[in-house]
Amino acid sequence: MKPHFIIPSQGHISLNEYRQVKGNSLKLARTINPKEIIAELKASGLRGRGGAGFPTGVKWETLYVDKSEQKYVVVNAAEGEPGTFKDRFILRKNPYALIEGALIAAHVLNTTEIYIAIKNSFNQERVRLEDALREFKEQNELQNELQGELQDIHIHIVAGPEDYLFGEEKALLNVIEGIGPLPREAHYPPYEIGLFATPNSRNPALVSNVETYARVPDIILKGAESFRTLGTVETPGAIICTLFGDIKRPGVYEIQPGLTIRELIDLYGLGPKEFNVKAILTGVSNRVLTSLNLDTKIGFSSLAEVGGGLGSAGFMIYDESRSIPRLTQVIAKFLYRESCNQCTACKTGLGIASSALDNLLANNTDKLLIEKIILGVKSAPQSNRCFLPVQGSILIPSLINSFKEEFSKTFQNEILQSEYELLPRMIDFIEDENKFILKQAEFKNEPTIEDWKTSERIIS
Ligand SMILES: Cc1cc2nc3c(=O)[nH]c(=O)nc-3n(C[C@H](O)[C@H](O)[C@H](O)COP(=O)(O)O)c2cc1C
Ligand code: SF4
Repeated sequence: MKPHFIIPSQGHISLNEYRQVKGNSLKLARTINPKEIIAELKASGLRGRGGAGFPTGVKWETLYVDKSEQKYVVVNAAEGEPGTFKDRFILRKNPYALIEGALIAAHVLNTTEIYIAIKNSFNQERVRLEDALREFKEQNELQNELQGELQDIHIHIVAGPEDYLFGEEKALLNVIEGIGPLPREAHYPPYEIGLFATPNSRNPALVSNVETYARVPDIILKGAESFRTLGTVETPGAIICTLFGDIKRPGVYEIQPGLTIRELIDLYGLGPKEFNVKAILTGVSNRVLTSLNLDTKIGFSSLAEVGGGLGSAGFMIYDESRSIPRLTQVIAKFLYRESCNQCTACKTGLGIASSALDNLLANNTDKLLIEKIILGVKSAPQSNRCFLPVQGSILIPSLINSFKEEFSKTFQNEILQSEYELLPRMIDFIEDENKFILKQAEFKNEPTIEDWKTSERIIS
């Protein structure tokens, strides 16, 4: 296995076997001054794998220099971005790297409290995680010397709801607190107000994605310079991509940034299925990419330079047989339904866009419908607590503008392709068959408080 790659083909079968292959990063990290760990992370150029690509070392430093007595390490394992399965894949194949990364973060932040927030429905991953944690406990690794005293590290696994917003970091903290997947106000980021805060204690939290933590152990063991020999200057290291859609071999692939989208499709996906590629979505946060962007390199900045983004590296490939107006309708419906309605403009604007798209696809020839869609999504982000409506305001106009001709036709006798295939929410991956199992239900109706019930397990 290449250095810094974290997904072995067979998956790590035990903590001992993982250590034999990788070495003991946790033991080493616990002998290193936190400042040096942060310096190494900053030098490595590691960027968060949860979507925004924020520099990880800078995030850890912000929490480290905070003078608060109580801090928390929080793992975002709520993976809900359409077309993404990489965090669940890591949890299945190598939960050890994630746990080590989170324990190293706890050492740096001088805390005993780690929360792993995961969807209740991720049964296989939860069992794998709990088994792996038991192995760490058996090896006495859930103890660390903090302030000259040997202390137990408490790892809490919180199983939460299906909502897309569960993965939004401020909503994630509210789920852990039992409030539900409702993003807090925009000016309360987790590094300001963390978990179980009181007027006298802000309790800041380091919230990061599963893959981000899982990249840390190898950086500590092998060094920042070694990490930078992989990938590109702006996106160093390796990255895990989910590849889905009109290609011959869908799957989850660990690659080096710098590969082009065309290479990803041809080398890993074994090429387009039947027709030429027409559109590529990287989740639902970024502008659509077209066949003109196929030779763009995979990386945070390289994709941003062509107006797109890497997101959480889920690549959904659409060929010429797909209807872009139908895809746009499905995306608008998804964002509208998932909006939590705490900020009025978000729900209203996305609702206007979604129903205008329904009208358009019902063969309504009203010339103003396209304007209505754009106006709806553009007006959605106002005093927004989270990024969800911004996503719609970027992606939906980009689909309309990039595929103007398709939107200018009439939609008589249109056969509507199923929403679950167009915007996949994956519930399982059968690796031997390179097959994703998709959630086939319609996008859910408004959630009820009953849906938001959480359960917690503590392993310490
Ligand atoms: C609507 C929405 C959903 C999100 N879902 C996820 C998710 O499922 N997993 C994730 O890691 N980040 C998700 N994010 C991003 C998180 O808010 C946050 O940026 C991320 O966990 C930070 O981790 P990183 O620094 O490791 O990238 C989502 C953001 C938004 C706005
Ligand atoms: S911006 Fe939208 S999704 Fe985000 S908190 Fe407000 S209403 Fe909810």
